[in-house]
Amino acid sequence: MGSSTIQFLLLLFVSFSISDAQLLPPSTIPKRAGIIFDLERDPSTLQYMIKIKQGTPQSEVKLVVDLGGNLPWLSCHKGHNSSSYHPVSCSSPQCVLANKPTSTLELCNGTANNACSVYIINPVTLSHRKGELISDLVTVASNPDSQDTPVSSPRRCAFGCATTGSILNGLAKTSKGVAGLGRSSALSLVPQLAVAFRFSRIFALDLHDINTDVKSGETGGKIYFGGGPYIHYLFGFDDLKDRDLTYTPLLINPKSKEEYFIDVKSIKVHGITVPINKKLLSINKKTGIGGTKIDTRIPYTSMETSIYKAFTKAYIEWAESFNNANAELNDFLNITRVTPVAPFTTCFNSSTVPLVRMFQNNDPPGVAFIFPKSVWNISLFDMVRVNDGVDCVGFVDGGSKPKTSIVIGARQIGFLEFDISRSRLGFQQPNLREF
Ligand SMILES: *[C@@H]1O[C@H](CO)[C@@H](O)[C@H](O)[C@H]1NC(C)=O
Ligand SMILES: *[C@@H]1O[C@H](CO)[C@@H](O)[C@H](O)[C@H]1NC(C)=O
Ligand SMILES: *[C@@H]1O[C@H](CO)[C@@H](O)[C@H](O)[C@H]1NC(C)=O
Ligand SMILES: *[C@@H]1O[C@H](CO)[C@@H](O)[C@H](O)[C@H]1NC(C)=O
Ligand SMILES: *[C@@H]1O[C@H](CO)[C@@H](O)[C@H](O)[C@H]1NC(C)=O
Repeated sequence: MGSSTIQFLLLLFVSFSISDAQLLPPSTIPKRAGIIFDLERDPSTLQYMIKIKQGTPQSEVKLVVDLGGNLPWLSCHKGHNSSSYHPVSCSSPQCVLANKPTSTLELCNGTANNACSVYIINPVTLSHRKGELISDLVTVASNPDSQDTPVSSPRRCAFGCATTGSILNGLAKTSKGVAGLGRSSALSLVPQLAVAFRFSRIFALDLHDINTDVKSGETGGKIYFGGGPYIHYLFGFDDLKDRDLTYTPLLINPKSKEEYFIDVKSIKVHGITVPINKKLLSINKKTGIGGTKIDTRIPYTSMETSIYKAFTKAYIEWAESFNNANAELNDFLNITRVTPVAPFTTCFNSSTVPLVRMFQNNDPPGVAFIFPKSVWNISLFDMVRVNDGVDCVGFVDGGSKPKTSIVIGARQIGFLEFDISRSRLGFQQPNLREF
């Protein structure tokens, strides 16, 4: 284990153990225990997949996590081999929800077997196919750390069923479909599980990737539905506190209602505000362009070109001012830039990057997203070790005309709670002042 890994573990440990842990407000604690699924990361596409046990006999399917998806769906081109599966009828309320605003009369017009047809969308290729809505049993595990009544399982969930295999193009090879976790659709997996297991519309992603190394192949993570407690079982340390969360409101983009937008007002790099054209940070209500959203499907946060340039420049300036401030120590504290490794453009010699920077008093953490009423420091996730000896600023150029100006990707997420019921995003950050 390299010294940087040890420092990283230590930082995590510090941030989780020395926090003035406050319990979540009572109303966020469900009377029913929440549930947990394991996540797996596909090493080639870097997509996260949720592992769901469904059908009879029970089988595990992997569905690519799509935060903006309106519906969970499976490819059924080889048949859906389950004795507990039911087609959803075209006259059912679920079918109406899936096809709003089309009426039942139209939905059932000309259908041979009363099947409910739905559009199935591949979030990567954006291709769409007609499929059918089905329902089947889902078997779940209650959150083992919850004191509340365990959920009773299995329960039924509706899935889109796509009958052509090509709909899977662009998705992780081992996946069988997509887990749509959109915030507005009643058929997104979030409200469906909330109704089936009787908890509120809330889910949390734990993508803590212990390794900072891209190639280490560290996969995994967890997704919680129905709330916490969100306990860490880290590296054998027996400090098992619930997480301390800070919140910011979730915004709705009227042109993209399923997605999770947040109100980033500015960005700081090591305490210095990055100059950004403010217009890029707000959502144009007519076109849906601009603003900031979260998307686990992209591995590294992407930024519109002018933001990206200003952002990486701030890193370079930070390194220079760090070097100047430590001139007398420059023999061993001299942050050195090296040839960048794509897709990144700003890289440093790892052995010269002060990983202990957070231990220094008053040296603010790497990156902070500034919201109207809170600040999200993502200092543990700003750099990426791309190969032996090279650390890069783990953000990428999103082009000059992206739909969304900043898309916060998996690498920078760490832990996030998406609370649809209260329309807020909860995040966790290192609490450094107590160290
Ligand atoms: C469907 O499930 C049955 C029972 O487990 C099994 O015998 C059969 O081979 C399966 N068929 C396919 C196509 O997977
Ligand atoms: C049902 O379908 C037929 C033929 O496609 C169409 O002419 C008719 O208007 C439809 N009826 C309704 C209620 O949508
Ligand atoms: C987060 O970062 C900001 C600005 O960099 C800093 O002022 C603040 O103290 C940090 N908060 C925590 C909890 O570390
Ligand atoms: C710091 O590193 C840079 C680039 O390698 C070098 O040019 C400079 O002389 C170094 N500064 C000191 C004081 O060693
Ligand atoms: C990084 O710095 C160390 C120590 O100065 C040096 O030995 C090594 O070759 C450098 N690595 C790269 C990739 O520049």
